[in-house]
Amino acid sequence: MSGIIIKNPEQIEGIRKSCVLAAETLDYAEQFVKEGVSTEEIDSKIEEFIINHGAIPATKGYNGYPKSSCISLNEVVCHGIPSEKTILKKGDILNIDITTILNGYYGDTSRMFSVGEISPAADKLIQTTKHCLDLGIQQVKPDNHFGNIGFVISRYARAQGFSVVYEFCGHGVGVKFHEDPQVDHTSRRNSGPRMKPGMIFTIEPMINQGRASTNIDRTDGWTARTVDNKLSAQFEHTILVTATGFEVLTDIHNNYPVT
Ligand code: MF3
Ligand code: CO
Ligand code: CO
Repeated sequence: MSGIIIKNPEQIEGIRKSCVLAAETLDYAEQFVKEGVSTEEIDSKIEEFIINHGAIPATKGYNGYPKSSCISLNEVVCHGIPSEKTILKKGDILNIDITTILNGYYGDTSRMFSVGEISPAADKLIQTTKHCLDLGIQQVKPDNHFGNIGFVISRYARAQGFSVVYEFCGHGVGVKFHEDPQVDHTSRRNSGPRMKPGMIFTIEPMINQGRASTNIDRTDGWTARTVDNKLSAQFEHTILVTATGFEVLTDIHNNYPVT
């Protein structure tokens, strides 16, 4: 028996609404990403927007996590805690990750932002990571193996000279924050369970310039950094398996036509 929930139409509709709100919150956050602004200020705008739309930020209080978003700069791979001490500066690249709970349903999405001009190397990392997510999404269809998502992502990332974070994964999502299955971003072709219509999960590749391994900050217990302090990038969408392919529930800009 697999523990992967097949969502019913009512659950899908609820999760779809939460996903739209999470994506709208990311768009709203963009205007605050500027030189001199602290990540704490961005987080408080995010929290206000989510609450004003009748939802709850899923991260706040989750296993003791203190904030309404994760904001991960430069060498931070994920779970960066917004802080008044973290001030954006020119050339920074950052991921903002937002998870909403709306009427009990979860939507989870993240993407990269940059402050002013960034280096060509940082830009290549960001473009490659975005393409990794796109390749993963193209694998979503009934009966395909979850392992093929990580297979195509890792093959492409490595061909571009980058490494793939293996210590954090995508996940089933919707009625809880983190459900089965674990969606690896590096895996063997045709490994893992098969996708079925009504499954909902995230794909959220974290791609590194240097080594793949991460360290968790000893002081805050959350912030994951590259071991070599080189750059890391991440993009995340929440995806529904349809009868014929996929629907990207957090895609409010129609970048991924439903298949
Ligand atoms: N949103 C993250 C994810 O994509 C999880 C953050 S959990 C937190 O799964 F506790 F760090 F906020
Ligand atoms: Co996620
Ligand atoms: Co997320």
